[in-house]
Amino acid sequence: MELSLLGFINLIISLNMEYQKIILMLIVTSICVYWIFFLPFEWKERYSLHAGKESILRNDTKRLTINRFRKAKQHSSNKMPPPYPNGEQLVVYRTQNNKVFIVDAYCPHLGANLGVGGRVDGDCIVCPFHQWSFRGSDGKCAKIPYSASVPRSAQVKSWTSQEINGFIFVWYHVDSTEKPWSLPLTINDDQFIYHGRNEFFVNCHIREIPENGADNIHFNSIHNECFMSGKMGKSSKFFQYCHHKWNSSWIPSKNYKHFAEIKLSHALQIFGKFYCFRMDISGLQVGPAYVCMEINSSIFGTFRIYQTITPIEPLLQKVIHRFYGPRWLAPFMKIFILGESIMFQRDVTIWNHKDLLQNPVLAKEDTSIKKFRMWYSQFYTSNSKSLTDEAISIW
Ligand code: FES
Ligand SMILES: [Fe+2]
Repeated sequence: MELSLLGFINLIISLNMEYQKIILMLIVTSICVYWIFFLPFEWKERYSLHAGKESILRNDTKRLTINRFRKAKQHSSNKMPPPYPNGEQLVVYRTQNNKVFIVDAYCPHLGANLGVGGRVDGDCIVCPFHQWSFRGSDGKCAKIPYSASVPRSAQVKSWTSQEINGFIFVWYHVDSTEKPWSLPLTINDDQFIYHGRNEFFVNCHIREIPENGADNIHFNSIHNECFMSGKMGKSSKFFQYCHHKWNSSWIPSKNYKHFAEIKLSHALQIFGKFYCFRMDISGLQVGPAYVCMEINSSIFGTFRIYQTITPIEPLLQKVIHRFYGPRWLAPFMKIFILGESIMFQRDVTIWNHKDLLQNPVLAKEDTSIKKFRMWYSQFYTSNSKSLTDEAISIW
């Protein structure tokens, strides 16, 4: 027998009060269980220091961009390392066979943007202007609908890419000499399901964000106050007896030159005496903007966080953390995502307002920052674009 929604409501109304209460409780409990265990938790920090809401950010005005550069010029006491690894305009598309291709955005015919109004046809992307088709695998023009011949130079650049853990990575090297790295780090385990993510827009140089992993001192400095007391500078008396304690180290990997290893241990200290929520975190930094972290806790088992940094502009980065763990951990993961987001906001506050010092005055205990900068310099060559080159290419 099929029961319509109206019929179901009528049936409930006709029941006595006791049954109505039980049914209501069942419905509310089911919704809560569904929300807690099956819906990912997403935290989006839509605000950026200079651009305001993301809607404004997307259509960022020239004035705001100029202001960012002006600020960078005024406040950077010395020469900045190349700020932005490419400045290319690319189109990413997925075929019906689930293959992902990345090609240059501008059509070699008359320059239309393939990503604005273009459509996918088989493995090709079709230009919205005169319908030329370009193959994703090699970028060659496969068809011109109104011509029997295709000019030999009708081609867009096809970029090497890899899809992994729900992210699409593109290989870029300014000199095109180094062989693409492979990214072997897949979730590769049915036990690990996606629990949610957070997203932030940060106004800083791209190097500042991964440098955080090598800045061992900052953990006990800005991540010491209980996450429940909120963002930086919002310390609450209520949580004054609850602190996070950290121990960390950073070293370049012995296996691959573009890897570095972060070891971090955490404990929550209560009343200055008792320790709980101990966690050991191993992070693998892969290249300039990708970090994979595995967290081991004696109570909660193992879960993972993946961090990516996408340069939007020379001094504007989009940072995403994605969280994976067993299904049963879902209630804890929601609290963990909230805590990590608040902790990361404290870093964002610092980055949004800090200066980038090329020759900082370091204490003896800060040596890993120096090592990090030497390691990070491998991601630039003498041909990397400077801040001024980038500024010119933007307007
Ligand atoms: S501009 Fe792309 S087909 Fe003409
Ligand atoms: Fe931090």
